Amino acid sequence: MSAMLELSDVEVRYGRLVALRGLSLEVHKGEVVCLIGPNGAGKSTAMAAIAGGVPRVAGSIRLNGQELPARKPEQIARLGLSLVPEGRHVFGTLTVEENLRVGGFLRGNARESAAALERVAGYFPRLKERWTSPAGRLSGGEQQMLSIGRALMTNPRLVMVDEPSLGLAPLIVDAVYEILLELREREGLTLLINEQSSHRILRFADRIYVIRNGTIQLHGTAEALRDGEAIKAAYFGFKGTGANANVVEGAKA
Ligand SMILES: Nc1ncnc2c1ncn2[C@@H]1O[C@H](COP(=O)(O)OP(=O)(O)OP(=O)(O)O)[C@@H](O)[C@H]1O
Ligand SMILES: [Mg+2]
Repeated sequence: MSAMLELSDVEVRYGRLVALRGLSLEVHKGEVVCLIGPNGAGKSTAMAAIAGGVPRVAGSIRLNGQELPARKPEQIARLGLSLVPEGRHVFGTLTVEENLRVGGFLRGNARESAAALERVAGYFPRLKERWTSPAGRLSGGEQQMLSIGRALMTNPRLVMVDEPSLGLAPLIVDAVYEILLELREREGLTLLINEQSSHRILRFADRIYVIRNGTIQLHGTAEALRDGEAIKAAYFGFKGTGANANVVEGAKA
C-alpha cells in the first residue's frame, strides 16, 4: 500500500543550522501518526516543510504519490492538507466565528463555507457556546479547539497538529484527543501529531516516530513500543535502556 504522505531524506536548514537531516517518514490513510521528540528536535520544522512554510534543500515530500511544491502553502492546503500550528495563534480580537471564517478563506462560496462552519460547530459544542466571544477570552483548551476547528474549515483529508497538549491541563488534553479521534472515526481523517511526551500518544496513536537532531531515531507501532523503554532510549539518545533507567525518571518522555 502506498503512503498518503511520504517524506524521504528531507533536509531543511536555517542558515547554517541543519534542522532536518535526511528525515524520512510516512503516513497512511486513516492513520494517527505521532512524531515525538525533545525541544528543538525538528518536529515543527518537519510540519512546516510539509505545509510549504520552509524551503527544503534536499529530499522529497509526496502526497498521494505527487511531489508537493516547495513553499506554496496555499496550493498545498488546496490539496487537502491542513496545519494546526504550535501555540494556537488565534486572532484574539476576532470572535470564534470570525476566526473560523478566516480558516475557510479557501472556500469560494458562501454555502460551502456555512456548511463547514456548521460541521465544526457540531464537533466542538463548546465553541458553539462561545460563538460570538472574542477568541482572546477563551481558555487555552478552547483556543486549541478553535485552532483545530479553523484547520478543518478547508475540509482537509490530512491534518497536522503541532503539540496540541502544550500548556493544557491533562483532562483538557484528553478532550482534545477524543475529538481528534472522533474526526478520524467519522470522517476518515488522517492525522500527524507532534508531541514532546509519549505519555498520551501511546494510547492514541497507531504509529510513532521518535525524532532527535533532525532525524528519525526510531519508529514502530504504538503496540510494539508500548512499554516506552525503546522510546526513551531514542528520545534521549541512550545506547542502552536499562542502565539509564534512573536518568529518565520523571522526565517528560
Ligand atoms: N525560524 C528559525 N530560524 C532559525 N532556527 C530555527 C528556526 N526555527 C527553528 N529553528 C531551529 O531549528 C531546530 C529545530 O527546531 P523546531 O522548532 O523544528 O524543533 P521542535 O522539535 O519543534 O521543538 P519544540 O519542541 O521546542 O517545539 C532547532 O535547533 C531550532 O532552534
Ligand atoms: Mg515545535
